[in-house]
Amino acid sequence: MPCTIVVGGEFGDEGKGKIVAHLALHDKPKIVARAGVGPNAGHTVYFQGKKFGLRQVPCGFVYEGARMLIGPGVLVNPEIVVKEVAETGTGNRFGVDRRCAVIEASHVEQDRTSAHLKGKIGTTGTGCGPANVARVNRTARLAESVQELQRFLADVPKEVNDVLRRGELVLIEGSQGFGLSLVHGTYPYVTSKDTCASTAAADVGVGPTMVDEVMLVFKAYASRVGAGPFPTEIPQGEAERMGIVEFGTVTGRRRRIGTFDFELARRAVMTNSATQIVITCLDRLFKGCAGAKKFEQLPADAQAFVKRVEGELGVPVTMISVGQGIGDVIDLRAEKL
Ligand code: IMP
Ligand code: MG
Repeated sequence: MPCTIVVGGEFGDEGKGKIVAHLALHDKPKIVARAGVGPNAGHTVYFQGKKFGLRQVPCGFVYEGARMLIGPGVLVNPEIVVKEVAETGTGNRFGVDRRCAVIEASHVEQDRTSAHLKGKIGTTGTGCGPANVARVNRTARLAESVQELQRFLADVPKEVNDVLRRGELVLIEGSQGFGLSLVHGTYPYVTSKDTCASTAAADVGVGPTMVDEVMLVFKAYASRVGAGPFPTEIPQGEAERMGIVEFGTVTGRRRRIGTFDFELARRAVMTNSATQIVITCLDRLFKGCAGAKKFEQLPADAQAFVKRVEGELGVPVTMISVGQGIGDVIDLRAEKL
C-alpha cells in the first residue's frame, strides 16, 4: 500500500492524528505529507509523555525515519509552522512546498471579526477562509516569498511521486471531516475547501490512479464544533452522563456531541471511495475496552457496534482505537486485507 490517505468521515476531530502516528510508527513511511485546509485543524497525539496539538506539522513526526512535508494545497501560517517544527524537533526533515499560500494577519483579523464567518458559521478564526479567498483571487502570497520558511522550501509533489515510483510508502494526512467539506458537506456550515480523499491527494500533488488505500476515520460517536446541522446531536447533559465532554484543540470551544450518524457515514464512504474504516474513541463509548489488543478482548456491546458499522458501511474496519496512547490500537489489517 505505497500511497495511503487518512481522512475524516464526520465533522473533524475523529482522531486522525493518533491514527497517523500509529501508522507512521508501524508502517515506517518514507514521507508523511499533510493535506487539508491549514492551521484550522488541530491533530492531537500523545508521544513520550507529552501532548502535541499539531496544526501544520504532520502527526507522523513520531517516526523519525520519515520526512515531514506540507503539500502545496495547504495554507500555512509561518509563525505556527516555525513553532511546531521546533516543538517536534523535525527541522532537519521538514519541508513546506514553495506554492503553499500564506495566511496573513489581515486574514486572521477578517476571520475573527466578520459577522458572517465568526458570528454565523462559527469558524476557527484562524484566517483560513479569507486566505483561500485570496488564493482564488490570485492575490495570496506564497511560501517561497516568506523569509522564515526559506530553509524548509521543497517541491512536495516531486518528492512524493519519486518515493511512490520507487514503490515506497507515503502517508497522506488529511484534515477536517466529510461533513465540513465545502463541496459535499453541510454548506454553508463548512470549511473553505473540499475535505475528501481526492482533494487530499491533489493537495500534495498525487493523482487518483496513484492512491492505494483510503482510510476513513470515524469516532464511535460524532462531535461538531461551530454552527451547522447535526442530525444525531444529543443534549450536552446526556453526553456528560455518558462521560463525554470534549473541547476543540485549536479554539478550546466545547464540542457538540451526537450519536454515530450512519447516513452521513455511508455518504462519506461513497464519496471518499474508502477502502478501510477506522473507529476511534471506542473506549469512551463502551466501558471495558481499555487495554484490549485483540478484537475478541472487547466487551460484547463494543464488538456488536463495530460489526454493525462494518455491515452497514460495507467496508472492513481495519483499525480500532481504544485509548489516547499511540499504542492503544487494535490493528486488524493483517487479518482483513
Ligand atoms: P474554518 O475552517 O475555520 O473556516 O471553520 C469553518 C467550520 O469548520 C467551523 O464549524 C469550524 O469549527 C469547522 N472546522 C474547521 N476545521 C476543523 C477541525 O479541524 N476540526 C473540527 N472542526 C473544524
Ligand atoms: Mg481536531
